[in-house]
Amino acid sequence: MQDVTDLAFMSVITHYGAPDYFFTEFFRVHAQSHLEKHILRSIDENSTGRPVFAQLIGEDLGHLTRTVTELLRHNVAGIDLNLGCPAPKVYKKNVGGGLLREPAKIAEILGALRAAVPGVLTVKMRIGFDDTVNFERILDLVNEHRVDLLAIHGRTVKEMYRSEVHYDAIARAVGHVRCPVLANGNVTSSARAATVLAETRAAGVMIGRHAIRNPWIFRQCREQFAHDSELGRVIPNPPSGTPNGSNRRVKDNAPCPTSRDAVVGRVSDPPFELSKAGQRPALLSSTAPGVFRPTLADVRDYIDRLYRATAVPGLPERLHVNKMKKYLNFVGQSVDVAGAFLHDMRRAETEAGLFAVCDRHLLAEPARAFAAEPYPGVIARPNCETPSLLADGCSLETITA
Ligand SMILES: Cc1cc2nc3c(=O)[nH]c(=O)nc-3n(C[C@H](O)[C@H](O)[C@H](O)COP(=O)(O)O)c2cc1C
Repeated sequence: MQDVTDLAFMSVITHYGAPDYFFTEFFRVHAQSHLEKHILRSIDENSTGRPVFAQLIGEDLGHLTRTVTELLRHNVAGIDLNLGCPAPKVYKKNVGGGLLREPAKIAEILGALRAAVPGVLTVKMRIGFDDTVNFERILDLVNEHRVDLLAIHGRTVKEMYRSEVHYDAIARAVGHVRCPVLANGNVTSSARAATVLAETRAAGVMIGRHAIRNPWIFRQCREQFAHDSELGRVIPNPPSGTPNGSNRRVKDNAPCPTSRDAVVGRVSDPPFELSKAGQRPALLSSTAPGVFRPTLADVRDYIDRLYRATAVPGLPERLHVNKMKKYLNFVGQSVDVAGAFLHDMRRAETEAGLFAVCDRHLLAEPARAFAAEPYPGVIARPNCETPSLLADGCSLETITA
């Protein structure tokens, strides 16, 4: 995620239970582009022990190919193409989600990328621009160009983050493409991840905002899926002869991703070995016993760790506090039902002020549970903080979760 999935965030998340693999923030690709140094750090200095995919956003074939050649000199698990960013400044340039209007252009891009990437080529897409009229055609292109892994956020570009997620469309894609599919959108908890996997038969889930809110989510997914498979609550394989008719059982824990950013595939295997959907957890409505339940004291520890990890020499305190508030907008969704933590946190201006708010709300009853799901009506508004350092993109500035 832009402004989020940097080296610092990846290391903090890993402390609480890493996803199977990460995706970088997107590298912008155009005539004057060069590999952004801060994004490269999340590849070159990645010490999470998990593979990291480099995501690109662009449409010029020559510059995309040039960028791939440069990136392949670094330790990337693969190259990922962004076909989903809904920010108007982005899609108006006909990149990201804007390309979903033009399957012919996507065909050219995938052809060029497939020729340039000897290893793993992945795609992250939404289900369409303002409708799903091109969805199946684009899924065909995924097959034609032998894409290795497809992550689908089950909304159109125009739906931004507002609508329900169309898991039925993700399920259709699972039945259509030959590669594994990661289901993305509103995977709020481990119980929800199990439900989404059962509903879509996807090979894994990709988790974005809810990994910011709850960095234990990947660990919790593994525990949930392990519990589920112990009970034998699995969905039978799809009938053989269908594109998903593999008899390979998904071993160990099912996928749990991350922040597109963070994505979770199967816990034990690298993404490029993901099988198609096999047996999956059945629908679950609640958190399984044995799944870690963080307390408010644990959340206080997370905030402290995040603050230290995101400190940059020379960064003024006020800007650092504002950066923290963007993360805390998501965290605050599970602290208290009335949103009092969010209310007070938004008014903090100094490090001392911010941590005083944290102590008041998180250490008064340190053993109280941090809610597994966001409290209804407690809304993250990270874009209400100070202006982003970024001029455009799918940044926290453009999101109201
Ligand atoms: C702050 C932020 C930045 C994002 N940046 C990217 C990005 O760079 N590339 C991308 O493919 N998706 C990006 N996304 C979209 C997420 O990967 C994901 O598709 C979306 O948030 C829905 O999943 P979620 O409900 O798990 O958050 C971003 C989302 C947010 C909230």
